[in-house]
Amino acid sequence: MSEAVLDPPAFPMPRSCPLSPPPEYARLRARCPVSKVVLPDGRTTWVITSYALAREFLADSRASKDTTRPGYPSPAPGFRAATQGLARGFVFQDPPEHTRHRRMVADEFAVKRVQGMRAYVQEVVDEHVNALMAGDRPTDLVRELALPVPSLVICELLGVPYDDREFFHTRTAAAVSRSSSPEERTSVLGELRHYLSELVDRKEREPADDLISRLIGKYRRSGDYDRERIVVTATMLLVAGHETTANMIALGTVALLENPDRLAELESDPAIMPKAIEELLRYFSIADVGTARVATADIALGEVVVREGDGVIALGAAANHDPAAFDHPGELDFHRSGTPHMAFGYGIHQCLGQNLARLELEVVFTTLFSRIPGLRLAVPARELPFKGEANIYGIHEVPVTW
Ligand code: HEM
Repeated sequence: MSEAVLDPPAFPMPRSCPLSPPPEYARLRARCPVSKVVLPDGRTTWVITSYALAREFLADSRASKDTTRPGYPSPAPGFRAATQGLARGFVFQDPPEHTRHRRMVADEFAVKRVQGMRAYVQEVVDEHVNALMAGDRPTDLVRELALPVPSLVICELLGVPYDDREFFHTRTAAAVSRSSSPEERTSVLGELRHYLSELVDRKEREPADDLISRLIGKYRRSGDYDRERIVVTATMLLVAGHETTANMIALGTVALLENPDRLAELESDPAIMPKAIEELLRYFSIADVGTARVATADIALGEVVVREGDGVIALGAAANHDPAAFDHPGELDFHRSGTPHMAFGYGIHQCLGQNLARLELEVVFTTLFSRIPGLRLAVPARELPFKGEANIYGIHEVPVTW
């Protein structure tokens, strides 16, 4: 314990291979699975690198997600400042507020409801794969497929006009980028809220068959209508609903193209697609640093006691590459069973959109690889522009040909 505490390394940590987690995670886990690191703003925080301790901590009711607490650790400079004084989405709230507001939208993301969107998702994917095949080669898979599919789907669900995508794509990318200045972050988050606020205004006047209109109805019926609450929930869902899945489509495609044996396995046995998706989610754990918390009491974690007020990040990629939980964690193995991964987090904040993300990934990978069997990267994988600067890991562009 003492070595890690006395000499905390800088965080976030660099990757030596863009398709693998930072190697420092394994070193920290071996030294002490609950270690101190230094954030870009100079503060220290704890990071958890063991699967068992990450789950134990995320299930602890003394682990707060309240970003207004001074110890809240964000790897993005200025994140706390940008969100101070503003109503927060339930992703940044604790019970009982979190429970109440999450419940208001939970049914929209239940398995049955999401499966009801399958035909629409397939239609959107077919259209985009057709357009991709009819266009020039090489082409950018992110621009043509990975980003538009989840964007269109979340727009359809929320009732956000897809024509405004350029606006919310650029603002979201800046909001999750670690290289944005605090002023830029404050500004883009403000613009997104302003945009959604005008949209909520319109839906208050003219409700339609969409999530935002249904949410307005639910809060009105609940007797304590709060417009700002609907705006922050809609902003959160719009941001979370497209950036995450888009990055996972891009990374998953590259991983399959770089592992022809795994791709061949998938092509010869399409029934393993759901397991392949879980494995790709585990392997990349793109929202690795999203599970930040503040301890609201002294909490014993293994051999360490995290003090009240300390920041803690339960690193998803580290937990999901813990050899104590997954045999040969650095290998893509579509036949794993047993230990569930933590790519969608754990505990009360576990990803609300996970069923939707799974559906989109399944339809995209199944359609893409069956329609374009000769698909390949147009540049070596190591030359791809990976998002080393983003809080959600991914790739800016994936040039492909066939
Ligand atoms: C591959 C895609 C995705 C990944 C890897 C992912 C990952 C995560 C993770 C790790 C968390 C937990 C954060 C924490 O514990 O603090 C989370 C929460 C959340 N995600 Fe996702 N997500 C994905 C897609 C989506 C989609 C499509 C939506 C749809 C709107 C969504 C909406 C949310 C929301 C609302 C929360 C907050 C839940 C709460 O605080 O109760 N996510 N996500």
